[in-house]
Amino acid sequence: MNELGRLEDLPQDYRDELKQLNLVPLWPSLRGVLPPHIPTRNTRATAWAYKDIKPLLLKAGELTPIEKAERRVLVLANPGHGLEKMQASAAMYLGMQLLLPGEWAPSHRHTPNAVRMIVEGEGAYTTVDGEKCPMSRGDLILTPTGLWHEHGHDGTEPVVWLDVLDLPLVYYMEASYHINGERQTVQAGQGDRVYARGGLLPTPVFERSRRAYPMLRYPWVEARAALLAMATDKPEQEAVQLTYVNPETGDDVENILGFYALMLRPGQTLRLPARSPACVFHIIEGAAEVTVQEQQFALAEADTCCAPGYTAVTLRNVRADQSTFIFMADESPLHRKLGVYEVRA
Ligand SMILES: [Fe+2]
Repeated sequence: MNELGRLEDLPQDYRDELKQLNLVPLWPSLRGVLPPHIPTRNTRATAWAYKDIKPLLLKAGELTPIEKAERRVLVLANPGHGLEKMQASAAMYLGMQLLLPGEWAPSHRHTPNAVRMIVEGEGAYTTVDGEKCPMSRGDLILTPTGLWHEHGHDGTEPVVWLDVLDLPLVYYMEASYHINGERQTVQAGQGDRVYARGGLLPTPVFERSRRAYPMLRYPWVEARAALLAMATDKPEQEAVQLTYVNPETGDDVENILGFYALMLRPGQTLRLPARSPACVFHIIEGAAEVTVQEQQFALAEADTCCAPGYTAVTLRNVRADQSTFIFMADESPLHRKLGVYEVRA
């Protein structure tokens, strides 16, 4: 490869003149922005143990009342991006959120899309666009761009969930903002009940729903049952995996990030090929060893890790007698829409 000219090779008066005119020579930085064969990735393989997070989150509950926090969250920040950037990858943000009994996180809406994966506790709910979505371990609840959402808690124990947002990307686009609102009036009906049976879509007045987000809650009990059925029906199939989709269109549930449920059979090792998007793994049930390049993480229940794009990942169920269930998030919808999605052998 040709050695390109360096900035220092240019006379100082020439460099000063360029700077004065807001001009930059490309060639000294060309390899930096267009490296050969594989992109430069700031995202580092990183893991966060729930046993470390939980006491600090509960401490935050003592230190900061909900009124002073609005959303009481500890962000799972990737050191490769700098902790202050609060991002797990280029497009993903991860946060562990705590809601205590009786607390209420007021209604707002914003441009970034969010989902919540419930980690622990019963009795909390999220009201999204007037629909009250109960929160139980493993449930996935969407709060897509522009939809009002608020969190309440009628139970007796702390509730914790994992927030996954496309905030870093939307912020980078200079399109991130929020609006505070009034407490929502709950409307009757639940999308997950209406769409509970596969292959059957509601068609009032012979028309299909025009709602962009017809289903807002994806109960874990349904996803788990579907994974077990797939594992039984297709014993030869290596990846037992489901994608969370919009039941009307079959598209990913949100526009930027993709969400999946994955089951590792007892003792199974699953090799995921290197793909362009970064991805996140969170253990819903069980335990797994996750290998990303030379790094290896032992993940227990409720632990989370992320892997940069263009990197192969190996998942191993460390339980020899029971399945392990994993929630996965990635940047695939974004990469596909932008035409940069790649799988490398
Ligand atoms: Fe929000």
